[in-house]
Amino acid sequence: MDKRTFLKVGSLAGAGIVATPLVSSLLGCGSAPSSGEAPHATTSEGFTLPELGFALEALEPAVDRMTMRIHHGKHHAGYVRKLNAALTNHALSGQSLEAVLAAITVSDTGLRNNGGGHFNHALFWNILTPSPNPQDHVPSGILAERITANFGSQEAMLTELAQAASTRFGSGWGWLVQDTHQPDRLFVASTPNQDNPLMTGIVDAEIQGRPILGIDVWEHAYYLNYQNRRTDYVAAILDRVNWSAVAGLMA
Ligand SMILES: [Fe+2]
Repeated sequence: MDKRTFLKVGSLAGAGIVATPLVSSLLGCGSAPSSGEAPHATTSEGFTLPELGFALEALEPAVDRMTMRIHHGKHHAGYVRKLNAALTNHALSGQSLEAVLAAITVSDTGLRNNGGGHFNHALFWNILTPSPNPQDHVPSGILAERITANFGSQEAMLTELAQAASTRFGSGWGWLVQDTHQPDRLFVASTPNQDNPLMTGIVDAEIQGRPILGIDVWEHAYYLNYQNRRTDYVAAILDRVNWSAVAGLMA
């Protein structure tokens, strides 16, 4: 992990409230390629494809090996490659992925699709687990407290999240998001395509925040194994969530 990036602080820190590692730093996303010539930039090789923390077949039967191989090795790798190409000699050279995502406008199609694609998938891999350890599969500690306070119960949160992901029309994502200004507030959202709650120049203000869990509902994520049964896929993914990892992404 790039130390300079890791030590950057989130927007709360900008308000003098608390120092918070960027989610993209925790996920090992890298930073925008730079020659070191752009303002505020340091030399960097660019964004990188994070390695999976488990074997390709480790999530079976929830996610099959072939889907994982294509999804991570082709789709996600493609987003990283195209994102770096779009940012070469760009004004955002050397910036964090959060800074890039926050700067995107509706006309920045390449950055929007590939910047979002990189962040979203890095998050997705991070919050999935083949672990048989029961404590990984149930929210605990402050995360559990925040879920209960905001949704009434963990079951209610899971129902709302499954609904948001399952009913997103076309390709997109379902999210559990932490309010940047009120860290105790968690909420569910969904976005189309590769948009995410960090794209403050694109998504509605009420769904902007710090994504701590994302569910990919593009057909490339499930069609080989589930065909049109997206609801079954979403339920299987929720059974494979590593809630310890989700908790670790909160500010
Ligand atoms: Fe995907």
